[in-house]
Amino acid sequence: MTEEEFKGILKKEVDYINSLIYNFLPEEKDKYKKISEAVNYSVKAGGKRLRPMLILESYRLCGGDKSKEESLVAPFMAGMEFIHTYSLVHDDLPAMDNDMLRRGLPTTHAKYGEDFGILAGDALLNLAYEVMSDATVNTGSADAARAMSVISKKAGIFGMVGGQCLDVDLTGEKLSEEELDFIFRLKTGALIEAAFMAGAILAGADNEKIKALGEAGLFTGMAFQIRDDILDETGNQEEIGKPVHSDADNNKTTYVTLYGLEKAEKDVSDFSIKAEDIIKNAGDNEFLIMLIRSLINRKS
Ligand code: IPE
Ligand code: IPE
Ligand code: MG
Ligand code: MG
Ligand code: MG
Repeated sequence: MTEEEFKGILKKEVDYINSLIYNFLPEEKDKYKKISEAVNYSVKAGGKRLRPMLILESYRLCGGDKSKEESLVAPFMAGMEFIHTYSLVHDDLPAMDNDMLRRGLPTTHAKYGEDFGILAGDALLNLAYEVMSDATVNTGSADAARAMSVISKKAGIFGMVGGQCLDVDLTGEKLSEEELDFIFRLKTGALIEAAFMAGAILAGADNEKIKALGEAGLFTGMAFQIRDDILDETGNQEEIGKPVHSDADNNKTTYVTLYGLEKAEKDVSDFSIKAEDIIKNAGDNEFLIMLIRSLINRKS
């Protein structure tokens, strides 16, 4: 697959994912109008849709049944993107990173007020479980129940939320290598790990493969967050769609302040290669390999 072909498929895939997940968004009506608008604004603002894409591509890698993509996989893709989007909405709040720009638009709290920023996050998190539990009930699938269990754990105290807690708690302090690694694995790694695992689970993969792909997810997540820290330092606001130097303004220890730019660049590439090797071992999915590679050099 050439770079051009990859870009074409990637664009179609984002459109496909949007068409699937928008079905699960609330109608903006009656007394629920404002909260539904805030929820829909947060999701529709854009975003790379990486996590739902990884669920879908991991499902395909593991030989999942194509005819079940819409009925079985889509609700988990939506649930995952809603959890991710809520994490961003709350991450941007004044009490956390206090950022005013996200996905190229004013952050949810900047547009709807802090109260509705908090509530839109709450609503998105809950909606994720409404959608995934409906799919579990409707399909009666034990794999669906297991996928939901994995996603819920990786999003919680021992996953993304736990990482965010340590991140904000230690803001302003110089972190050790071990602390930064722990934060990255949880705040960013956990959801990406869950995305790989959920795709494999829904495809009916065996435990060994589910575990291996989870590891690929953790490596991908590490590479992804290191690149995010690099972009906060060297990126361009137009391209990343969020403010640059937010980490420095918040006095955060980042991968770049701890290790320097050169090692950060090298580690992005090393972690990505580790992820790639596991994926190649697990099955055949050229698009997924190209996707992981594209994340190494991403500018947004
Ligand atoms: C931003 O995630 C938060 C991190 C974990 C670095 P993304 O870079 O995936 O954000 P969107 O979804 O594309 O906006
Ligand atoms: C990742 O960290 C945040 C989440 C888990 C939501 P950042 O705070 O660096 O993410 P950005 O840079 O605001 O997207
Ligand atoms: Mg943050
Ligand atoms: Mg932030
Ligand atoms: Mg960041």
